[in-house]
Formats: sequence, structure tokens, C-alpha cells
Amino acid sequence: MADLLAQLSAARLVPVVVLDDAADAAPLAQALVDGGLPVAEVTFRTAAAADAIRAMADRGDMLVGAGTVLTAEQVDTAVAAGASYVVSPGTSRAVVERCAEHGVLALPGAVTATEIQAALELGLTTVKFFPAGTSGGAPAIAALAAPFGGVRFVPTGGVGPKNLHEYLALPAVAAVGGSWMVPKDRIAAGDFAAVRELTAEAVALAGSPVP
Ligand code: 3PG
Repeated sequence: MADLLAQLSAARLVPVVVLDDAADAAPLAQALVDGGLPVAEVTFRTAAAADAIRAMADRGDMLVGAGTVLTAEQVDTAVAAGASYVVSPGTSRAVVERCAEHGVLALPGAVTATEIQAALELGLTTVKFFPAGTSGGAPAIAALAAPFGGVRFVPTGGVGPKNLHEYLALPAVAAVGGSWMVPKDRIAAGDFAAVRELTAEAVALAGSPVP
């Protein structure tokens, strides 16, 4: 699990994917890989999630996780499909404990000091900071990082090319998540070249020095 966190931190970016049709998973995965980002958080907001995770995980060259995981049953489904990490919008003991049983990384949402302490009590030191934009953004993370020195954050929600550097400049930020490089309308249109280009742009931005 520590290894997986290290890999996510190295990637710096976690594309948050919403797929209506699992058939789009293969070309989407290829576009992400070709764009230089072999990472995806496939959300359980659609019925296609498990099949999409399976298609991506079966490649063997991507860090594939499940997102919007709200129940322990969804953890089982996600892990059976091949997810190696599980992201939730909030912190659920049931979800975190089921992840531990499976030996997969849990990345629950936490944006307040109380929520972070709850995550710490569950044995976690990395949390999703969601929704980042409306929860105080980078200044809030910087403030929380003072008392919670060992905690790393993955801000998601309202993150994009214009503000990504504000987050990535913070030592407490492990990676940022977002959907801007995998727009639903481009995927629905079968425009995977656009996904590849947006991904390559995001990778270049994340890797470039903070201005
Ligand atoms: C998530 O589930 O992490 C967010 O919906 C992604 O947020 P974004 O669409 O603002 O990037």
C-alpha cells in the first residue's frame, strides 16, 4: 500500500473518470497511457464502473482505483474487478475496514480537523481533500498541514489547469485529482485524441516547475 501511495505521488495526478459505457474503458485507458498518465479513478457513479475497472486493470500497466465508493459491498465489487485503491468522498469506517481486509489502499475524503482525526484513528495518513475548491482550497490544506504534520492530501473537486500549481506547491499534497482531462462529452463523442491531448497537457503542467 505504501508502494501504491508512492506511485500515486509520483504520478501527481489522478484522473477522475465517469463512464456510462464500459466499452469506452479500453480506448480511454489507451488515451491516458498515451498521454503519459497510466492512472485512473473510475467512479461508482455509473453501472459501468466495475467492468470499466476490469478492462483497465487487466492491461497490467495502470494504477486503477475505484472512486465514489460508499459501501463495503462496493469495495468488494471494486477489488474483485481489479481496483488497487478505493476512493470515497467522505470517511466511512465500514469502507476503510473492508479495504484493510482486502489489503487495498483506502483514500477517504476529509476536509476538517475532526474528519482528519477520524481518518487517523482508522490508521490512515493520506486523505482525499474533497471538494477542494469549496472547502478552502490550498490555503485550507496549508493550515491543516500545520497540526497534522504527517498527513498527506489529495485535493479533488474544482482542480484544473489554472489552479493545479497552488496545490502541488504544498509539500502536504501527494497528488491532485480531477476530471478535466477526461471530459464526459469528449468520451461520449469517442474523441479519445482530445483526452490524450488534455492528459499530456496536464502531465506537462504537473511536471513543470511551480511558477
Ligand atoms: C470527484 O469525484 O473527485 C470530483 O467530482 C472530481 O471533481 P472535478 O470534476 O471538479 O474535477
